[in-house]
Amino acid sequence: MATITVLDHPLLRHKLTLLRDKETPTGKFRQVAREISLLMAYEVTRDLPLQEIDIETPLEPMRADYLLGKKLCIVSILRAGNGILEGMLDLVPSARVGHIGLYRDPATLQPVQYYLKLPSDIADRLVILVDPMLATGHSAAAAASRLRQAGVTAMKFVCLLAAPEGIAAFTGAHPDVPVFTGAIDRELDSHGYIRPGLGDAGDRFYGTR
Ligand code: URA
Repeated sequence: MATITVLDHPLLRHKLTLLRDKETPTGKFRQVAREISLLMAYEVTRDLPLQEIDIETPLEPMRADYLLGKKLCIVSILRAGNGILEGMLDLVPSARVGHIGLYRDPATLQPVQYYLKLPSDIADRLVILVDPMLATGHSAAAAASRLRQAGVTAMKFVCLLAAPEGIAAFTGAHPDVPVFTGAIDRELDSHGYIRPGLGDAGDRFYGTR
């Protein structure tokens, strides 16, 4: 059963509005997306298991919480995923990072992989797959399938905005991968843009177009 979490926090809602606003310039867009990503990383890692270990403070010994279990790997779907990666690494700087590059074949409209670099021990890690826009859901689903092939058993997907169509496609293909999003927008338009959305996330991050 697929779980979809819409992150609900006043700071996040405010910052998403800044991202959506077409007047927000590139540098500000990048900075705000980084701040949102850090907030999202905080929520996505909420259920990481802890164990107690023995340490000594400068004053006395104590049992203290310590992260237990799978280490993290953040996998960015190029290129816009890199805009989310930075904020996540602000919160979990020791996480490993993987990259997947996909383009859409104009004839078949199916995602084709052109780049893949993953840590060799990725199968032992909890993977947080990131792409700012869950639009058709095809790239995210293909990336998740590729990670499965690499042996990944624990995975979460994080985006800034999702279209209902993208959620349906992704969760249909990967019902066991929890989805975390900043908002679910109204629809996908005929050009594959999320409405009302924020435009082309890659162009907004990098000032291209
Ligand atoms: N990719 C984007 O960058 N924006 C959209 O609205 C949809 C897909």
